[in-house]
Amino acid sequence: MSSLGESARTDWITYWDRQKLFSDRLWQLHARHFVKASQELMAFGPEDRVLDIGCGSGYIAALLAPRVQEYWGLDTSPRFISQCRARLVDEPKATFEVLPHDDYFDFSQAPKGHFNKVICVGVVPLYPKVEDVGRLMETVREMITPEARMIITDFVLNGSILKDVWGSIMGGIKYECLGEKLKLLWGASTTEYLKQRRLEKILSFTKNELEYALSGYGVAGRLIKGQLGMNTQRWHIFYQF
Ligand SMILES: C[S@@+](CC[C@H](N)C(=O)[O-])C[C@H]1O[C@@H](n2cnc3c(N)ncnc32)[C@H](O)[C@@H]1O
Repeated sequence: MSSLGESARTDWITYWDRQKLFSDRLWQLHARHFVKASQELMAFGPEDRVLDIGCGSGYIAALLAPRVQEYWGLDTSPRFISQCRARLVDEPKATFEVLPHDDYFDFSQAPKGHFNKVICVGVVPLYPKVEDVGRLMETVREMITPEARMIITDFVLNGSILKDVWGSIMGGIKYECLGEKLKLLWGASTTEYLKQRRLEKILSFTKNELEYALSGYGVAGRLIKGQLGMNTQRWHIFYQF
């Protein structure tokens, strides 16, 4: 990857399509942690039709798809979607589709009014604007059945890089993967990532904006700190439609 100067500015969608930041081991730990920590709220089971928005390279899908009726993963990264298809090649219940880079709320490749469980893990910080969470909720409403459940993770409150890095280290201690986290922080890819974050800030919410996300979309959310992710400084929302 070329070094990132102002002239080589890269948006988050392009960055994630190329990134090599996380090791396979860290993706796996993160996926195992999320699936275990979300089970009480989401109660994933054999009747479920799951929509995974921003499914990444399919580590969460690999754990959940065998346990549910149907699993759809959508992501803006063609590279990650290829990895998902390869990883779950023997899982007929799983389907993966690329979202258009310039129209990432076009979910038309997946069936409407179909899903009763929705997850969106680690994607919100990559949206360019807070209003995109409203677009996400509108789009999800078209995709779900009544009484669906949804988790959106990784809201950053009044974010600073330092606070976020601190949360990542504390998560490493709490979830016993400090070695992996420090390796991550030490690596050259982290330098790339921090440069990218200085140029293309991750999306940060004010307290009022987070409160709006909790109650402003016609469904009451429940706010959860840390716990569902491996960064103790981030917030997550659970919705029961
Ligand atoms: C931090 S990764 C999380 C991947 C996966 N959800 C997980 O937790 O393992 C963020 C993912 O969001 C995808 N992404 C970035 N911008 C997106 C957008 N606007 N809509 C959907 N996916 C997006 C990236 O390609 C990447 O796969």
